[in-house]
Amino acid sequence: MLAAREEAETQLRAEAPLSDSEPFSVAQVTLSNYRNYADLCLVCADTPVVLTGANGGGKTNLLEALSLLVPGRGLRRAVLGDLQNRVTSEPWAAAVEVRTAAGVLAIGTGKDVSGTDEEGERRVVHIDGRPARGQNMLAEHVAMAWITPDMDRLLAEGASARRKFLDRLVYSFDPAHGGRVQRYEKAMRERLRLLREGMVEAAWLAGLEDEMARSAVAIAAARRSMAAQLRVAIDESGDAFPRADIAVRGAAEDLLDTNPALLAEDALRATFLRARDEDARAGSCATGAHRSDLRVVHRAKNCSADLCSTGEQKALLIAIMLAYVRLVARQRRMAPLFLLDDIAAHLDDYRREALFEEIRATGVQAWLTGTDPENFAALMPHAQAFHVENGRIF
Ligand SMILES: Nc1ncnc2c1ncn2[C@@H]1O[C@H](COP(=O)(O)OP(=O)(O)OP(=O)(O)O)[C@@H](O)[C@H]1O
Ligand SMILES: [Mg+2]
Repeated sequence: MLAAREEAETQLRAEAPLSDSEPFSVAQVTLSNYRNYADLCLVCADTPVVLTGANGGGKTNLLEALSLLVPGRGLRRAVLGDLQNRVTSEPWAAAVEVRTAAGVLAIGTGKDVSGTDEEGERRVVHIDGRPARGQNMLAEHVAMAWITPDMDRLLAEGASARRKFLDRLVYSFDPAHGGRVQRYEKAMRERLRLLREGMVEAAWLAGLEDEMARSAVAIAAARRSMAAQLRVAIDESGDAFPRADIAVRGAAEDLLDTNPALLAEDALRATFLRARDEDARAGSCATGAHRSDLRVVHRAKNCSADLCSTGEQKALLIAIMLAYVRLVARQRRMAPLFLLDDIAAHLDDYRREALFEEIRATGVQAWLTGTDPENFAALMPHAQAFHVENGRIF
């Protein structure tokens, strides 16, 4: 089995030579009534952007606004109501002009002022001056990766956050992944409801378990493929950051180690059938795609990431994200924006400079924040710096 994996990964290397991605950078950001920004227009070159200033100035808010240019709730996972500037009811909006190989593209998002429906508040998206059908359209135009202080405990804490992190990485490669996860979760909730109500309609339960088994195997295959590609990209990294050994473990993922997909689906269906009584008693589903984990090991130390120091964990996370950024640039031929919030914390001088060097080498437009401009001195000849204060940028 190991040999098969090595062979597949060698093939990945051969099929995907490193090549320059298409240029992609923010040329201008405009914010209106967005958090502590009443009105901002920031014009930038295509080099990395460094934002510094005292606590509470609006550095993270600006990165968050950029993070809304991909589908989802942004890097704080905020509810939409929180984005509205508290001192005005004029609707919030965030727009950018980006430089692409095909010219300048305008992308914007903002509060939906057409009224709310039963789904609650929504945000609208405009691409190239036209309303987009939905947020998912953003993924076709923008790729993004971010590291925030909230992710500091990612490698130390429970599987759930790591699984969601991995799934987010998959979305930008495989837009169908979001639909699979939603189908799986819907079927799982419905099965649990029937079990709790004592519903014994066997065919109905079997139908839901069939949906769960098929979705779980598709989800597992996509996660395994992402991990395999990341392993290749990690192996190609320099030595400044520790190498991570990563693997996805879970019922469906483990079955795919030794079985073709159809047999893995059969085995999962049988597991769900056997677990009905126990799941009904527990009120939750004991196995499935919602229990999987991304296991990370510090290769040189042969030490599970959760046992590594805070700084080592941050370095492992940065190494994984740098590999991911290179992978996105290569596979999608679209340089991702790379948002690094409060990145200097926990990094010694050597690591910080190595990170800057890697950012320069990838050629992506990174957006970095911190309180102390000194920490970015090594990047400065190749970046543009702004001072952020009280919702204004100088
Ligand atoms: N909806 C809102 N309306 C007005 N102000 C808001 C809103 N949401 C957040 N703020 C304010 O925005 C300010 C800036 O927050 P932000 O997190 O961007 O600061 P920061 O520059 O990243 O600070 P730090 O260095 O501490 O990370 C905070 O004082 C916060 O209270
Ligand atoms: Mg901040």
